Amino acid sequence: MRMRFEERQDWMARLVIRAAQARRQSIAGYFAADPARVSAFGIEAAGLYLDISRQRLSLADRELLLAYAQAAGVTRRAAAMVAGEIVNPTEGRAAWHTALRAAPGAGQPPEVAECLSRMRALAEAVRQGAWRGERGEAIADVVCVGIGGSHLGPQLACEALVSEAAPRPRIHFLSNVDPAAWDALHPQLDPHRTLGVVASKSWRTLETARNMAALVDWLDAAGISPQGRARHLIGVTAAPALAAASGIDPAGIFPFWEWVGGRYSLWSAIGLPVMLAVGPQGFDALLAGARAMDTHMMTAPPAANMPLTTALVALWNRLLEPGGTEVVVPYCEPLRRLPAYLQQLQMESNGKSVSSEGTPIAWPSAAVTWGAPGTDAQHSFFQALHQGTDVHPVEFILALPDRPDRHRRDEALLANAIAQAQALMQGRSREAVIAALEAGGLPADDAASQAAHRVHPGDRPSSMLLIGKLEARSLGALIALYEHKTVMLAWLLGINPFDQWGVELGKQMAAPIEAALGAQRRGDVASADTAADPATRAWIARLGSALRAIDDDATR
Ligand code: F6P
Repeated sequence: MRMRFEERQDWMARLVIRAAQARRQSIAGYFAADPARVSAFGIEAAGLYLDISRQRLSLADRELLLAYAQAAGVTRRAAAMVAGEIVNPTEGRAAWHTALRAAPGAGQPPEVAECLSRMRALAEAVRQGAWRGERGEAIADVVCVGIGGSHLGPQLACEALVSEAAPRPRIHFLSNVDPAAWDALHPQLDPHRTLGVVASKSWRTLETARNMAALVDWLDAAGISPQGRARHLIGVTAAPALAAASGIDPAGIFPFWEWVGGRYSLWSAIGLPVMLAVGPQGFDALLAGARAMDTHMMTAPPAANMPLTTALVALWNRLLEPGGTEVVVPYCEPLRRLPAYLQQLQMESNGKSVSSEGTPIAWPSAAVTWGAPGTDAQHSFFQALHQGTDVHPVEFILALPDRPDRHRRDEALLANAIAQAQALMQGRSREAVIAALEAGGLPADDAASQAAHRVHPGDRPSSMLLIGKLEARSLGALIALYEHKTVMLAWLLGINPFDQWGVELGKQMAAPIEAALGAQRRGDVASADTAADPATRAWIARLGSALRAIDDDATR
């Protein structure tokens, strides 16, 4: 039984009142009152350690949030998801990504086992040089064409696991329909030694179709025959008939299924680029890490459940700071794509305004997610996090070095992460600033006039997550943690995390605009006249003429 909307509304009202009370507490004050706070708010799971002690959250607040999670049936809904039941009501689908990483013989669907074994065979053949191009040359480069969920996860994982990857094949990603992306990439490639992996769940995505066309043209221009193309182009999709109709050899199509959401699909054949990079064993380790997080999610008691805790903290922060965003700062350069990956995962899943039943919700849904790797981020946007007027909770993600660094950059990296969290919480008072300035020799009057600029209000919440060493297994656990957090947060908010109708309208509107732009470019002003609003028409006219001028210049 789902929670009734009115019941949820009552719970939210209670939580909002409690959050207003919590806003009057200082985070440092919680520590003063409870010396055991760090251990009370620490959780271990699947090799990861989470510390939420610097959140603006008391033990009593946590109890209330856990009671709400229970009333909302979060654990029951997680069990339904893992059992493959229909949990995406607006599309009538399961969201069974956990089945993709189930252990062989322990719940792994046969079609998953079969696809994984085909992926392994291909990955081994390419990596060992047994897979040859039409001219008999081994593959040196893989170009992965896809966008959104068919791109962000594989790119994150390939970059994160670069130290585990073989030197060949090199993996490249082509997502943007901007020709500049392909123009920057293809001069580095030899078509006879390149394998294209086109990934699209729907096989209807415009950007991917156009980029695939550019790739195929490039193969053709190099003299690769239509028959030989099968050695240079494979497809990953939940729409195999469409892929075959677009010219992909059916034997080179790797399936996944409607019950896999695009942004939850890394573990399916969408992860083929990762397997090509790190090998089948590395990919198995990624799956095993995610599986360990799934097991934890299903078996850990609520108060020690890491995904549930992160979802509750996210909800709490939305209620505490409705205008706040969620800042993700990995102190781990190879995780630099994590913020971009999480932007799709969290904002495409939970950026909704109506409940699963279609009723407008009266509480904030997904926070804007953003971030960048530390320490670089400290030298750009951290100023605003420390002294800006808005409070943005930060998630610090730490990894251990895989080897000691003789320049002690590893120490500096970790120390800076700890220091930023400490500074956000402790801040610096006016008195402390004045005392420090005076101790530095500044006259009292000058110190007083400068102080306001140097005060750090502090009392700004953050979490810290240590993943151990960054390797395939810990990465799998980390990504699965965020998947579960996202889905559990949706269930707490009462929304459906598995659809994304909000991206459809703009896609639909682009088609007549593209036709009108093309007409304007050709000088066919009559056809370019659309029923669009004046601003849209003006932009079509302006850009259509600009494109025409560029065409004219090029033919001169
Ligand atoms: O932008 C919307 C979206 O449908 C995402 O949800 C999806 O991950 C992406 O486009 C790519 O879709 P596909 O894999 O079908 O090409």
